[in-house]
Amino acid sequence: MKHLVTGGAGFIGSHLVDALIARGDEVVAYDNLSNGKPAFLAQHQGNARFRLVHADVMDTADLALAMKGADTVWHVAADPDVRTSGSAATCQATSAPFMASARSAVSMTSACTKR
Ligand SMILES: NC(=O)c1ccc[n+]([C@@H]2O[C@H](COP(=O)([O-])OP(=O)(O)OC[C@H]3O[C@@H](n4cnc5c(N)ncnc54)[C@H](O)[C@@H]3O)[C@@H](O)[C@H]2O)c1
Repeated sequence: MKHLVTGGAGFIGSHLVDALIARGDEVVAYDNLSNGKPAFLAQHQGNARFRLVHADVMDTADLALAMKGADTVWHVAADPDVRTSGSAATCQATSAPFMASARSAVSMTSACTKR
């Protein structure tokens, strides 16, 4: 199986990549590296079943290219900081992190439906 993992260079995403590669699957990790670390994925460099794409989920053309042939999309890219994105006080339409997460989910869903 082939997977696209957004936020693949992040904490959760990189562990997911590890697990998918370990079971013999093909993985494209897609990350803008705003908080992700390529070092989390260093052990997969050179593996023909792995590729890291440095791009943003809002870049629909890059997203569509990276998604090509994928059986599964795991959308883990996010701002995980509860101080800026997850509290009741900031979880509203005027919050930039909240809106960024919402827009990225729409971008992902849209890219999936166009496949
Ligand atoms: N870490 C935990 O213990 C934990 C527990 C429960 C839920 N979560 C959730 O899992 C998700 C990921 O958390 P994490 O701890 O792995 O965070 P993280 O910051 O380590 O990983 C998020 C990744 O998304 C990337 N990213 C952010 N915006 C992007 C964009 N627009 N385009 C492409 N890539 C982008 C970042 O560069 C980063 O690599 C969050 O929604 C978080 O709330 C995390």
